[in-house]
Amino acid sequence: MKNKCAAVILAAGEGTRMKSKTPKVLHEIAGRSMLEWVLHASAGADTQKCIVVCGHGGDQLKEKFGDALLFAEQAERKGSGHAVMCAAHLLDGFDGYTLIIAGDMPLLRQQTVAAMVKAAEEGNYACTMLTAELDDPYGYGRILRNEMGDVVAIVEEKDATDEQRAVHEVNASCYCVCTPLLLECLNELKPANTQGEYYLTDIVGILNAKGEKVGAYIARDARECMGVNDRAQLALCAEILRGRIADEHLKNGVSMVDPKTVYIDADVQIGRDSVIYPNVTLERGCVIGEDVLLYPGSRIANSEIGSGTTVQNSVILDAKIGENTTVGPYAYVRPGSDIGDKCRIGDFVEVKNSNIGDGTKVSHLTYIGDADFGERINVGCGVVVVNYDGKKKFRTTVGDDAFIGCNTNLVSPVNVGKETYIAAGSTITEDIPDKAFAIARSRQTVKTGWTDKRKR
Ligand code: UD1
Ligand code: CA
Repeated sequence: MKNKCAAVILAAGEGTRMKSKTPKVLHEIAGRSMLEWVLHASAGADTQKCIVVCGHGGDQLKEKFGDALLFAEQAERKGSGHAVMCAAHLLDGFDGYTLIIAGDMPLLRQQTVAAMVKAAEEGNYACTMLTAELDDPYGYGRILRNEMGDVVAIVEEKDATDEQRAVHEVNASCYCVCTPLLLECLNELKPANTQGEYYLTDIVGILNAKGEKVGAYIARDARECMGVNDRAQLALCAEILRGRIADEHLKNGVSMVDPKTVYIDADVQIGRDSVIYPNVTLERGCVIGEDVLLYPGSRIANSEIGSGTTVQNSVILDAKIGENTTVGPYAYVRPGSDIGDKCRIGDFVEVKNSNIGDGTKVSHLTYIGDADFGERINVGCGVVVVNYDGKKKFRTTVGDDAFIGCNTNLVSPVNVGKETYIAAGSTITEDIPDKAFAIARSRQTVKTGWTDKRKR
């Protein structure tokens, strides 16, 4: 690609049909907002700066993207041409191409943007646009070409004649325009149409009048041109994007029992020979190793899962799990947890903000919160780290090779030494030195013949 580009993303639309408090372009699909999908696609060109035209909900956009983007405000919605006019001051003096993309077309691919820019470069076009051939072109702007195949105009549905409406090639709202010419054309736009708007599409006629060539690049996959206006279209786009993500993993050596039932966010990494069963959700930020088995019903977000590990029916959030470890069924691993290799985090075990060393087994019905457990520890059934006294949270440590009997309470802060044994049912409130045995419960009393006495 020879030319550097600026991108202008149009996102001032109100998105009324979404019926949402959230601006339309911030709605998420597979772990990225629609705006992020579009920004990602715009990187198919050598994009030097990104300008987002915002109106309604602009503050939420600024909050989320801050300095990463430039913002142009369109206080009053007077059409797509007017939206670009609002960004014009940020394009002054720029001599590359400007990409203009509607913020609500998340299916657009990087390769497609790259191909559109290449078509502009190779054909020496002042402007190229992305088009699609649709069976049902209703509602879209129609592309009118001359005998050379160049574009002479785009007519909106509402302004078109019957003959023009019969055209099946439509405008996708994704353009590549030579910036100095774009700025000239914007000055000449007039709201002379049924809607009284400044149509961006009118620059096509203006460029033709100046003797400039305008071209169109037809998308290979017409679905890329789909815009999201309501939640049904959002769900449809999500299905398509998930399909693309799943295909990519399948191609890279990941098995899925039924890919349609697996929900994997963009940018999740999964190693070879891992197998994913139905109803598994892998959210933003997950890095899954090789030979990992993810059985049905797990939600894993922003977590690292080491190779050879198995997870069943569990929730793992912002955590790290080592290699050859088993998690679940029904475990809850919460943020800030780091679990080692060859561990067992069994059924109904909750771990929060804790470190668990290699080879440690926490097999059933246990809560470990704010604690540092060493290696090869055996944690009996029903152990609780009592980390909260009602006001403050405290940390507890347990040394390597300790054996913690069933139903033990470790009242934080407490330090349990290495190779210690704790008798079942103990409530530990004081530190235990290395290699010691601790028992902290009252001695058992047995009253023989008591039942018969009671009956009398
Ligand atoms: C637009 C195109 C049409 C194309 C269709 C593809 C025009 C005149 N028509 O029509 O040829 O087939 O997209 O979906 O451009 N926007 C603003 N401010 C405004 C108006 C719009 O930021 O004042 C933004 C919207 O948020 C949206 C984009 O511009 O991202 C397109 O606007 P929209 O009103 O959806 O245009 P359409 O009527 O769909
Ligand atoms: Ca208990």
